Amino acid sequence: MKRPDVPLTELPFVRQFIRLCANGAAMGFHERNGGNLSYWLSPEDLALLPDLNCSGPPVPLEAEVSGMGGEYFLLTASGSFMRSVPLDPEKELCLIRLEQDARSYRVVWGLSEGGRPTSELESHLLNFSSRAGMPGRACRVMYHAHPAHVIALSFLLPLDEKTITKALWTSMIECPFLFPEGVGVVPAMIPGGAQIGTLTSELIRTHDAVLWAHHGLFCCGRSFDDAFGLMETIDKAAQIYLIVEGSSLKRVNRIEDSLLYEIAEASGGALNTRLI
Ligand code: 13P
Ligand code: ZN
Repeated sequence: MKRPDVPLTELPFVRQFIRLCANGAAMGFHERNGGNLSYWLSPEDLALLPDLNCSGPPVPLEAEVSGMGGEYFLLTASGSFMRSVPLDPEKELCLIRLEQDARSYRVVWGLSEGGRPTSELESHLLNFSSRAGMPGRACRVMYHAHPAHVIALSFLLPLDEKTITKALWTSMIECPFLFPEGVGVVPAMIPGGAQIGTLTSELIRTHDAVLWAHHGLFCCGRSFDDAFGLMETIDKAAQIYLIVEGSSLKRVNRIEDSLLYEIAEASGGALNTRLI
């Protein structure tokens, strides 16, 4: 049932979207326009949308987003500052609808002063598409941020999944429970567009978090809290790693491999033991 009397910015998913932007900015994850966020609208969300005029021309995508034709996504605008989103959501955000061929989109709301969706649009959409095709693994939220400690880690450790994951798992004992599949790693590359998007979307099939070396982190979740919680957990673990490794005090304790194997057993085989 349509509820055209409720302004779009008051709809629950839009309010949660804005809240995440504010919280990410408060965490220091978003210098300037760093980072971006997207949300894939559910059929229940669509039922709440007011009638929207979709008059703009289709804008081509750099990649085909298979299986997602006709779907709606709420995104941050390219160049938008996360801390400014709550001040003027209609300027800083946009709602897009993919055309049926999933090779172009139309803006149906937002960008009130012009502009375009985030430059990482292809990464966000290809990530949704990757997960949507996997039973029980579809995600509604894709979140990209520039958390300082994770970025620092990518300068100090070899850029392989095993080294990065183990450093994080052994920095805070909740980590192996919260991201048992580990963290995927994308080497340093030019941001924006289909190339980094394709690589990320392959890794996001099997990981809820993907590190972009020297750049930031991509996290996905079924909910805003899941995606944001993963971002802050991974950055906190990276911070602890840096504190411990950078300390002049001698380390006397560690999370041993034997404990990780115990966690693997306790988690019913969810933990990727190849990464221990
Ligand atoms: P946008 O402002 O285009 O979203 O870019 C920010 C960013 O973090 C690129 O990786
Ligand atoms: Zn970025």
